Amino acid sequence: MAEYDYDVLVIGAGPGGYVAAIRAAQLGLKTACAEARETLGGTCLNVGCIPSKALLHASELFEEASHGALAKFGVEIEGAKLNLDQMHAEKAKAVGELTGGIEYLFKKNKVTWLKGKAAFQDSSTVQVGDQTVTARDIVIATGSVVTPLPGVEIDQKVVVDSTGALALPKVPEHLVVIGGGVIGLELGSVWRRLGAKVTVVEYLDQILPGFDGEVRKESAKLFKKQGMELKTSTKVTGVTVEGDRATVSVEPAAGGAAETLSADAVLVAIGRKPNTDGLNLEAAGVKLNGRGQVEIDHDFATNVDGVWAIGDVAPGLMLAHKAEDEGVAVAENIAGQTGIVNHDVIPSVVYTMPEIAGVGLSEEAAKERGEVKVGKFPFMANSRAKTNRDTDGFVKVIADAKTDRVLGVWIISSLAGTMIAQAAQAMEFGATSEDIAYTCHAHPTHAEALKEAAMAVQGKPIHI
Ligand code: FAD
Ligand code: NAI
Repeated sequence: MAEYDYDVLVIGAGPGGYVAAIRAAQLGLKTACAEARETLGGTCLNVGCIPSKALLHASELFEEASHGALAKFGVEIEGAKLNLDQMHAEKAKAVGELTGGIEYLFKKNKVTWLKGKAAFQDSSTVQVGDQTVTARDIVIATGSVVTPLPGVEIDQKVVVDSTGALALPKVPEHLVVIGGGVIGLELGSVWRRLGAKVTVVEYLDQILPGFDGEVRKESAKLFKKQGMELKTSTKVTGVTVEGDRATVSVEPAAGGAAETLSADAVLVAIGRKPNTDGLNLEAAGVKLNGRGQVEIDHDFATNVDGVWAIGDVAPGLMLAHKAEDEGVAVAENIAGQTGIVNHDVIPSVVYTMPEIAGVGLSEEAAKERGEVKVGKFPFMANSRAKTNRDTDGFVKVIADAKTDRVLGVWIISSLAGTMIAQAAQAMEFGATSEDIAYTCHAHPTHAEALKEAAMAVQGKPIHI
């Protein structure tokens, strides 16, 4: 008789957990995955990446059709109108197809889905709903949850988090977004395009912390040009709700005169925190760090033998692709192989229009480490962006001054999210800016701007 019910039990079926489970099964391990939700795919597929991108795409189409952006191309549309219920229905369809797809992949790979909330009984025994299972190796992939703003109650009607903001039943007149980070800017863009006045209140002096300074400044300019109001260096001191309206009290972060904003929707988007609620980690003896993340080593192993952690619940960027790559790596480590994730080369993308993407170091961070060379190329000088009338943004390549090795790439462009993959691959291969500059790029494409920015590092772009 087997000593354990399973070789591997993964807790959580988000991009980290479901990928870990599939990879473990592919490697011949008897695998189960516990998931408390009714559907697989975690935050990303159910209430994160996927529904937000569906609404970003749909709202982009609406704005183009209804605000005359197509007219200059000779495409005249009269009387375009919004059917928000249909927009939500199409979003739900995409979510359903993708979460169903994971269920199919579980069956195909013989991963057992244990439905219910999991809690440790000891380091190899876990209660899932009303059953108890044992496993030789257990992967904690329980993701993250919204960081609450003290004193502000999320009722999912007037005051919402990202989940509520993905499902508003009508377009708000005035949406106040607390937090000028990725969620605030993406979902703020959705509702602005659909007709809401949007005010973003950000505590820091600039939006998008963690991004390159020049990119943060240029992005703010573009969002303002689109009609979004950005109140930076501003703190929210309280939100009161009366009926279907909220009053948001704000004041300068450094202190000063307070003011109030009247809104019919408030989105709290000030970050996410690791989710270990109800897991009973104490029973397994698993340690958390000071930020509430499960402490792990380079191989994703916790302080307890046979217990591992990946994704948003572990340190690092809270991104789906980071979780997925860790899912593959942890399964390979459990199977006795060498699973590695290069955390220095994880792209970040904000899926607004234009998109904002980066990989590697910002110019500021690179300069702290030594001398750098920087090359920039604006989309204003890129022929494809010109033909598409899509010239906002630039590409910026940061390279080590001595070795020419690429340290960071930042892109603002309608296609930045797709283009950044090339930069990530170049960096993964240890490319120099010269390598990119001498790689033949198809013409006319947005990607040529990356080549030209790399040529600018060398001091010799052609088209500017
Ligand atoms: P999660 O996806 O959070 O999954 C964890 C799962 O574990 C959940 O399904 C949860 O129900 C389950 N669980 C928790 N505790 C238990 C338990 N005790 N027992 C059983 N099950 C449990 N990232 C991107 O890269 N690109 C994007 O475009 C993007 N857009 C986003 C948009 C929004 C609005 C949000 C909120 C996030 C977005 N993210 C995006 C972030 C991305 O969703 C996360 O980084 C990713 O989901 C993390 O994956 P994970 O597997 O670590 O955890
Ligand atoms: P975030 O960390 O990106 O941004 C939060 C913002 O709120 C920061 O700018 C911060 O300075 C500000 N803030 C914090 N406290 C505040 C306060 N009291 N008042 C005003 N501003 C305050 O977090 P966000 O946007 O909630 O997203 C959470 C995570 O989800 C992101 O870190 C990201 O990893 C992930 N995500 C990724 C997406 C993508 O990859 N496209 C899309 C959406 C989310």
